Amino acid sequence: MTKIIDPANLRMPPADAARGARPAPPAIDAADCPIETLYEEHFQQRQMAADMEVLAETPAPRPELARRILNNLGDALPHHRIDEDESLFPRLRRRAEPEDGIGTMLDRLQAEHVELHAMAEALKPALACMADGALPAPEDRAALRRFAQAERRHLITENALVLPLARLRLTAADKAATLAEMRARRTGASPA
Ligand SMILES: [Fe+2]
Ligand SMILES: [Fe+2]
Repeated sequence: MTKIIDPANLRMPPADAARGARPAPPAIDAADCPIETLYEEHFQQRQMAADMEVLAETPAPRPELARRILNNLGDALPHHRIDEDESLFPRLRRRAEPEDGIGTMLDRLQAEHVELHAMAEALKPALACMADGALPAPEDRAALRRFAQAERRHLITENALVLPLARLRLTAADKAATLAEMRARRTGASPA
């Protein structure tokens, strides 16, 4: 596929996934495009960032919201990060043209993955307390806001620059291998 999206237009959510609706993370089907799947997961991550900002401001305990964020940080987000670090970015580095200038950007995004992971790990104990009905402490509220802002900045770069370039540069074989690896991470099966 060689269609280029306008970087100013981030992917629009599906009609049934309007703000406030909480669709389940996308299942990965054999016929899916891995790049489109990553866009869908970015949409989920933007929802999570919005949830974090709601939790940061809440005057009352929000245990369900905290549990949903905690589940996302412990499951969907790590898979997604490994998909990018180990499957998408290496193939994009190999296929990119010198004029794409993508190497430094991918280095920065991978460094952000490490920072976001550390921030998520630091937030988990407080989120577990919030999932049990506690109110966030002032420092937890600040940490939630910081994570949401950092995550949103990260997503803007990936949606506007990385995924459109991946659409252009990855071959059909690259996409098939990437998809097989993504599915294997979620099912425990060998990518074969
Ligand atoms: Fe991503
Ligand atoms: Fe990322």
